[in-house]
Amino acid sequence: MKVTQSSSETTARYAPDPATDPLRHTHGYIGKSVSRVDGVLKVTGGAHFAAEFDVEHVAYAALVCSTIAKGRVVAFDLSEAKAAPGVLVVMTHENAPTMNAPSLVNMEKPKSFAASNLPIMQTAAVRWNGQPVAVVVAETLDQAGYAASLVRVTYDEETPRLSFDDLKAEATPPTDVLGEPAEITIGDAHQALADAEVSVDALYRTPPYNHNAIEPHATIAGWNDDGSLTVFDSTQAVSGYRYTLADVFGLADDKVQVVARFVGGAFGGKTGFWQNTVLCAAASKIANRPVKLTLSRQDVFRVVGGRTVAEQRVALGARRDGTLTALIHTGTTATPDHARYAEQCTFPPRHMYAVKDLFIGQRVVNLDTVANTWMRAPGESIGTFALESAIDELAHTLKIDPIAFRRINEPTKDPTSGNEFSSRHLNEAYDRGAAQFGWHRRQAEPRSQRDGRWLIGQGVASAYYPALRFPGSARVRISADGTASVQAAANEMGMGTATAQIQCAAERLGLPMDKVAFQYGDSRLPDSPTAGGSCQTVSIVAAVHAAVEAVHRKLLTLANADDTSPLAHATFDQVDARAGGLFRTDYPNRGATYASILQRAGQEYAEAEASTAMPLELMMKYSAASYGAQFCEVRVNVESGETRVSRWLGSFDCGRVVNPKTVVSQLRGAIIMGIGMALMEETLFDERKGRIANPSLAAYHVPVNLDVPRIEIIYNDIPDPQMPLGAHGVGELGITGAAAAIANAVFNATGKRIRRLPITLDDLL
Ligand code: MOS
Repeated sequence: MKVTQSSSETTARYAPDPATDPLRHTHGYIGKSVSRVDGVLKVTGGAHFAAEFDVEHVAYAALVCSTIAKGRVVAFDLSEAKAAPGVLVVMTHENAPTMNAPSLVNMEKPKSFAASNLPIMQTAAVRWNGQPVAVVVAETLDQAGYAASLVRVTYDEETPRLSFDDLKAEATPPTDVLGEPAEITIGDAHQALADAEVSVDALYRTPPYNHNAIEPHATIAGWNDDGSLTVFDSTQAVSGYRYTLADVFGLADDKVQVVARFVGGAFGGKTGFWQNTVLCAAASKIANRPVKLTLSRQDVFRVVGGRTVAEQRVALGARRDGTLTALIHTGTTATPDHARYAEQCTFPPRHMYAVKDLFIGQRVVNLDTVANTWMRAPGESIGTFALESAIDELAHTLKIDPIAFRRINEPTKDPTSGNEFSSRHLNEAYDRGAAQFGWHRRQAEPRSQRDGRWLIGQGVASAYYPALRFPGSARVRISADGTASVQAAANEMGMGTATAQIQCAAERLGLPMDKVAFQYGDSRLPDSPTAGGSCQTVSIVAAVHAAVEAVHRKLLTLANADDTSPLAHATFDQVDARAGGLFRTDYPNRGATYASILQRAGQEYAEAEASTAMPLELMMKYSAASYGAQFCEVRVNVESGETRVSRWLGSFDCGRVVNPKTVVSQLRGAIIMGIGMALMEETLFDERKGRIANPSLAAYHVPVNLDVPRIEIIYNDIPDPQMPLGAHGVGELGITGAAAAIANAVFNATGKRIRRLPITLDDLL
């Protein structure tokens, strides 16, 4: 496959204006608001997304998707499609290359990353409405799309399982929920609930949601003369996709290269491995041409799963003084048997409140749908909606301010594991947030604030998202010209990956940021974990720190061998990195720049690669998470029932903030997604046919500018001593608690407690 863009494009550089940049030649990059290093490329069209690579002789693919939810393909009539202009190949299960079924993420194949373990286009079986059954490859996109419309498929239909409400009674506990037990029993929560002086007990319902990243999924795949496969893909997991593709095609790992230089949003929808990537590579194989497969917006709804429908019960008991005495949080979610993903909606209650008697349980019901998957704060987003709504309801019943109620029940140790918190300053987040939002002015009594035809209310809810770190690798090279480059497979999907990594590496290397380049977005670089679970920044930083230490040791060895070097007798403990080199801590002026060490040793560069393991101590000994207090104000129109969010303040406790500009942007973006979750988003699933009825942005409503008020973000900026740099990921935290804050504000405005999302006009009339 011949690609015309230069490969150096993966390298991000910080390009300051030398006259005005206050950061030059100083440390202190961590915590500075640095504009994105790739911002100019993005806004000028210089950043290439998966479908935008110029590949010589590329052909175009279009999908034919099943129109039944369960059964078999009995026959294809491909005659018209094959005769259509420009058609090169029509691929079905009858002529697709033989491929292994991908593996779900599991312990045997920890690097596999598929959202579903169904074999891909290998049999006549149909398992969901929208499953690809044929791929048409043609000279142009229009020809492929037209020919796909001419494919006739005859099905033998079976009765599918589609109704969550009809089948939820059959739900069973999964073997685990992301490695944690599906059920936790401490004490006797049911008895404690029955004995409670005050209690609430309610069901919360959330619909299926889709990610709707602005860039639909896209792939360009081509096979090279040596039998290797090159794939440009809109993935958020270049390393994971590489191993999964190697597995599916039976190739050695080094025979697959996955490139994702820029990704136009993902939110979890490009983490698990979906059929489109494989189908593109398989079609390329039989067409003997590089093939581009860009999903339409409709295709994304068919081929890529989203967040599951969920029903949760939260029952809380308390004494009149506000002490929580019983907590029951159970949830039922849906998943097909080829995905087996129980969305972790009961994770927040495992960590949020001190309570002696607790029962947590999750169940799953199997439905015949596209695989459900991770979507921004999977579990925690919908789990906090249920839990934080119930907390607000109980506080109201007790006539205790909801913030005061949370303070009464703030735990000193993790309530289910008994572990110490690595860093938990939720009360500080509430203090700061309440002061800035003006919470003391809020009236506890519903319907007590009105402005003409608008009822006004304020609500608050806690945010919670675990602080994760996964194994990763990085390579660091320091060159004789005084520059450094850092390499890691890493993904950029909008959060500012390269910017944060350059800041962190420059800080560690004691180099100005414009002397540090970051190469990423290519599976040939050292493995990185998925850009998911809000783990990427700290996971890579941990590996970079290890690699930097290894390079420093090499440089010091060179200096030690040079009798005339100021570092000739220095040990590693006696030096630190600053001013572009290594300097003694005891004699601050005694040291040598990287350039001089390398030049004197006659070396062009020194380089090291390092890998980190799972942070077992963190996981076993600590409860590590980020927290926050979401404050919002809504206005509900008394005639139309319309809800407008008029004010928002998010006050977060998310460790040390590496780059306020990008961190605030991620938190704000996630809150906007929370507004969508609460008030407009919903994937409409037709339970008769298993079809998604609103597979477009015209019918699936996401917030637009007029739906979003000014969102203020503040944060504690207290480092977590257990994390590299004290930092936490922030990509997902902001959506948690957001929907509950809105529902609680709607209650305060109207007196109506809405427990089913999205909250729409008809709920409030
Ligand atoms: Mo996130 S749902 O882990 O991309």
